[in-house]
Amino acid sequence: MSEYILETKGLNVGYGPIHVIYDLDFKAKDGEVTIIVGPNGVGKTTLLKAIMGLATVYSGEVYFEGEEITRDKPFERTVKGIGYMPQTGNIFSRLSVEDNLRMAAYTMKDKDFIAEKREMVMNLFPVLKDFLPRAAGTLSGGERQMLAESMVLMRDPKVMLVDEPTAGLMPKLVTDVLKKLREMAETTGLPIVIVEQRARRALELGDHAYMMRGGTFTYEGSATELLNHPQLTEMYLGAVEVHDLKTVRE
Ligand SMILES: Nc1ncnc2c1ncn2[C@@H]1O[C@H](COP(=O)(O)OP(=O)(O)O)[C@@H](O)[C@H]1O
Ligand SMILES: [Mg+2]
Repeated sequence: MSEYILETKGLNVGYGPIHVIYDLDFKAKDGEVTIIVGPNGVGKTTLLKAIMGLATVYSGEVYFEGEEITRDKPFERTVKGIGYMPQTGNIFSRLSVEDNLRMAAYTMKDKDFIAEKREMVMNLFPVLKDFLPRAAGTLSGGERQMLAESMVLMRDPKVMLVDEPTAGLMPKLVTDVLKKLREMAETTGLPIVIVEQRARRALELGDHAYMMRGGTFTYEGSATELLNHPQLTEMYLGAVEVHDLKTVRE
């Protein structure tokens, strides 16, 4: 067993000929909340996609629980226990909340186990109980996010990758969503990797952190330390203000 639940070594990734990630060494420890921050377009989503097998790996390796999975198919990685919540397209809008949860568990056979997982997510997000018959598309942004997280949890992952969970949410919900993820990690022991543009809010709740620029990491260390690092201020003076303005307009 490796010390890390997830690890990449010398990873080079892109889309066809477009090289996005360069020689990346990423590590996420079991039981920890790992935060990846960085301006728009630097390769954060691409890293998560590479871990899921959804982008082209030119060279380097991806490890899950110490086992190399670089060439595994995406569904094989899901079955092995890597949960992935993409930034968009993470729920079925036309289906009811109940059916969304059912879809999430459709490859699972054990009915008791499914019932147990359903109970677990209902306890974690009690508000979803009232919405079970409603079409998922009619939920608010925050509720949708809870449903998307529930769907990943239904499959009982061993690690969860979450891409910008607060994107498009009203500012007052941002802290709630991130706190809930922290609570989830603490109550279940599930290690979580969060990509977040709301860097400060995320770092306050994280253990380990990375800053990404231009397809490489420019910082790796404790999340608290990055909070007070000049690199973070620099980032806020750049892209993040634009992002927050956009959110206010929504
Ligand atoms: N499907 C794709 N095909 C080609 N280029 C892409 C694709 N997705 C992302 N890119 C490019 O890869 C770079 C990194 O994108 P991304 O990983 O989404 O950044 P981030 O998540 O940090 O905002 C960007 O320059 C983007 O234009
Ligand atoms: Mg992204």
